[in-house]
Amino acid sequence: MTAPAVPAVPAVPAVPAVLLRTAERELAGAGVASPRQDAEALLDHVLGGTARFTLTAVPPEDSARYRDLVHRRVGREPLQHILGVAGFRRLTLAVGPGVFVPRPETESLVGWALSLLAGRSAPLVVDLCAGTGAIGLAVAAEHPGARVHAVELDGAALGWLRRNAAAWPEVSVVRVDATDPATLRELDGTVDLVLANPPYVPDGTPVPPEVDHDPAIAVWGGPDGLTTVRKVSVRAAALLRPGGWFGVEHDETRGAEARAILAAAGLVAARTHADLAGRPRFSTARRER
Ligand SMILES: C[S@@+](CC[C@H](N)C(=O)[O-])C[C@H]1O[C@@H](n2cnc3c(N)ncnc32)[C@H](O)[C@@H]1O
Repeated sequence: MTAPAVPAVPAVPAVPAVLLRTAERELAGAGVASPRQDAEALLDHVLGGTARFTLTAVPPEDSARYRDLVHRRVGREPLQHILGVAGFRRLTLAVGPGVFVPRPETESLVGWALSLLAGRSAPLVVDLCAGTGAIGLAVAAEHPGARVHAVELDGAALGWLRRNAAAWPEVSVVRVDATDPATLRELDGTVDLVLANPPYVPDGTPVPPEVDHDPAIAVWGGPDGLTTVRKVSVRAAALLRPGGWFGVEHDETRGAEARAILAAAGLVAARTHADLAGRPRFSTARRER
């Protein structure tokens, strides 16, 4: 989508409330889902912190920069790409072109994982299809002592993953195909918990313009959205120790199929869980003891 031309910026200081109102109107008109929040986040980004609450006037050069950023968002560039970061649970992750922007719904999968790990010292965890590292890094951040392997295939995503994981020595990054039977084979039968948010959108599903900025390899999951879900489930089942668990995110319309896939991979106690919006978003199952 091509954004409309940026209106001329008056070379006089602007009142923050007026800038925000104008931006909110433009963002709403462009179909942005949360126009007020985005207008505020972009202004905070330009001014630094919460200066909008104390400033009575925004200097012309900051107004001009703000107008540019709003213009990019009106063109439906993801907010996180414009800011250069995405919040995920307690983390602030570096994001940009070439990597999937972590979504709030995935926080539910991590919440389930952390409940499962509660009280366990030094659990071994594998994050298949790691992207920015959101899942594996959140587990490392919220369960001290966890040892995490983050698996990613795509070279561009890997750059972001390495950058985000640099401060986490307990997270080891591996560039391999998560569906390859040789992947982390040395860990087969030993892993406490495998987590995956693979590409799962059924081919041809209408998606918001922001999703065009996510890499295709991160989004599209084949005709039924389950091509990679099936393959990573087989790999996960082999990695798990007896009694270990697997949790996999999937399209909200594919809960029953996901449970059948987990059972076909030899796992038991398959169950589908809702995300924060109440939609069936991920399924879990255990390797028999
Ligand atoms: C939906 S994104 C999830 C990223 C991250 N886990 C998250 O939740 O934000 C899927 C990721 O899987 C990666 N991917 C796709 N196929 C893969 C494969 N066969 N092996 C490893 N990674 C793969 C993509 O490059 C992308 O980074």
